[in-house]
Amino acid sequence: MTHYRNIVILTGAGISAESGLATFRDQGGLWENHRIEEVATPEAFAFDPDLVQNFYNMRRAALGTVAPNAAHKALARLEAEHSGQVLVVTQNVDDLHERAGSKNLLHMHGELAKARCRPCGKVHDWREDLHQTTPCPACGAAPALRPHIVWFGEMPFHMDMIEAALYEADLFLSIGTSGNVYPAAGFVAQARSYSRAHTVELNLEPSEGHSQFAETIHGPAGQIVPDYVEKILGGG
Ligand code: APR
Repeated sequence: MTHYRNIVILTGAGISAESGLATFRDQGGLWENHRIEEVATPEAFAFDPDLVQNFYNMRRAALGTVAPNAAHKALARLEAEHSGQVLVVTQNVDDLHERAGSKNLLHMHGELAKARCRPCGKVHDWREDLHQTTPCPACGAAPALRPHIVWFGEMPFHMDMIEAALYEADLFLSIGTSGNVYPAAGFVAQARSYSRAHTVELNLEPSEGHSQFAETIHGPAGQIVPDYVEKILGGG
């Protein structure tokens, strides 16, 4: 049995790397082949909506070709077996945490498998390609549907719930993220200052913010995350 009560876990693209999904800033990452300004901003969508829709159509289609890895499954096990609270806050827009069994999960940057109607605001589960001609199933408008993704310059989702969870956390884990993008990169400082949480970085290599963590464990998530979960559940 562990002595931690409330565990908040931030995940980034690195936790999905071993499932075969490209990260953003590693060698050959998504931002090597695309300019953020051309595919991941509201201005890009206004300027060339078909280019942006296709960028997300390709990534949405890839979801069907990948599966959760041992790291996703370990976090789902932790939620199922830990007596206290476990909240996963993911920057990822893939559905691998859900498919691994995580339930208490917030997608702060949105979800590839969802589309949002700009006129009526309705958010729809969406697995197929999205085009400007695709009508909104709720209000029938077209063009209307956009990827339910938080673009650069837009506010991340669920920030109030995340803030409240950080206040209560006594353990904060950061897994597979480079610590380049705020507000997620600031969570470790909030967890430390709000609640004196123990903070651990689990990443392939030291991230931008590694010096802010009380503990750092480096290696592939598929190995180090199950080991760490075993340690927590075993009361290590
Ligand atoms: N195991 C653990 N960590 C890994 C692995 C692995 N197998 N492979 C890569 N990593 C680490 C890298 O070392 C890097 O620190 O995962 C991190 C990935 O960093 P990024 O590519 O920057 O992805 P992320 O931190 O999730 O980006 C944050 O930026 O572009 C925006 O909205 C996008 O949500 C994304 C945000």
